[in-house]
Amino acid sequence: MKKDLIITIFGATGDLTSRKLLPALSKLYQDEQISKNTLIIALGRRDYDSKTFLAYMKESSAAALDTKPLESLVIYQKMDISNPKDYPALVELIQANKHEKTRELFYLAIAPELFPDVSYHINTSKLVTQGDINQSIVFEKPFGHDLESAKAINEMLWQYFDEKQIYRIDHYLGKEMIQNIMMVRFANRIFEEIWHNRSIKSVKIIAKEEEGILGRAGYYDSSGALKDMVQSHLLQMLSLIAMEVPMSYFSDDVKNEKVKVIKHLSFDKDSLIFGQYRGYLEEKNIPKDSKTDTFVFLKTYVNTPRFKGVPFYLMTGKKLDAKESLIIIEFEETSEQRKWNLPLSTNKLYIKIAPLDGVGLILNSKVPGLRDDVETVELEYCIACHAVGNMSEAYQKLLLDITEHHKSLFTRWDEIETSWHFIDQIKKHQKDPIIYQSYEDLKPLIFELTKEEMK
Ligand code: BG6
Repeated sequence: MKKDLIITIFGATGDLTSRKLLPALSKLYQDEQISKNTLIIALGRRDYDSKTFLAYMKESSAAALDTKPLESLVIYQKMDISNPKDYPALVELIQANKHEKTRELFYLAIAPELFPDVSYHINTSKLVTQGDINQSIVFEKPFGHDLESAKAINEMLWQYFDEKQIYRIDHYLGKEMIQNIMMVRFANRIFEEIWHNRSIKSVKIIAKEEEGILGRAGYYDSSGALKDMVQSHLLQMLSLIAMEVPMSYFSDDVKNEKVKVIKHLSFDKDSLIFGQYRGYLEEKNIPKDSKTDTFVFLKTYVNTPRFKGVPFYLMTGKKLDAKESLIIIEFEETSEQRKWNLPLSTNKLYIKIAPLDGVGLILNSKVPGLRDDVETVELEYCIACHAVGNMSEAYQKLLLDITEHHKSLFTRWDEIETSWHFIDQIKKHQKDPIIYQSYEDLKPLIFELTKEEMK
């Protein structure tokens, strides 16, 4: 039977396929979110058949991957994706399975160095026709390693595919609470009214990880925390927090506003902290004299009338005390606060992204009882605690949106372009990293520079 959806994964033996793509596709299939009539073609150079490929995926997936539902979906095709001679067999396989309206995704789970060759072969073998909206190209960061290389990759892609066929994944945008930021901001009067520099004192955007580089030395050592996390995930979060009200909630209108934020960013060069965890140099395949940052902290400003003067602190790093991603919006003191001779704290809105998604609001409240003491309390909404069934994972949402042609949660080229421009400016001030044993070593440095406790 001909298939309604065909997903071809280039570089299918990599860890993205076992950790993210196959679990997400398996769940979408079982939940009947994608057609029962789906085919996944996994391409790799190794000598597997479909059965041994799935066994390998199961073994290399960190979380338990149930490959049973995938057995009827996945075909493994041995192929050297850099060799044009291997393409006709793939074209034939797809042709044999597609009908006129088949939705086709070509997922490039490969290193960016391979993009030019693979895109060229995809085009010349006529696997994809430029402009055919039913055929989409999907890929992930790194979108280059600086503005110039990102431009080169993008221009190359535009030679072969139209922008409307291209899906650039930033998986943070698929996270439940990041999708929720605009709703919290624009669908709640109490926040809409106070979302500006007269009420907001500071914003902290934090993505801490406990893990190290997990065997990704080749990629990570040439990247580092600033390029790996800030250029993509942290700037995406920042732009959603700081953007103006969009003309509409259609993808392009939202992106227009997000781009304006990044264009208006500046940073305080004296606030920059780069760190490297102790033990990084002993990781497999890391050069013994590597100066790569595994931690970065910086203070930025969004120079728009709405946010002028409000510091946005960005922090991310590996081998820290916890896996925690969150945004903290801190509000100014109330005008009455000074008259209360009590240790009042400021209100804070927590946007919690990981480990549990949710929203928290920190308030001052009287301690119940006979005395006039104050305590801080948190009104908390935990999304996972209220979700019916399992929470969907970011990749499920992103893959589903691609099959349905929804582009809101994917980055447009100018978002990437402006964020690389910003990162390139910071790079000019990069210093040798401070070696840290744990997060405790970094906290005093941050406090000394900013008089701020992060988290
Ligand atoms: C990836 C980075 O984009 O995001 C990794 O390349 C990082 O280095 C990961 O570990 C963090 O994602 P998450 O979803 O685990 O917060």
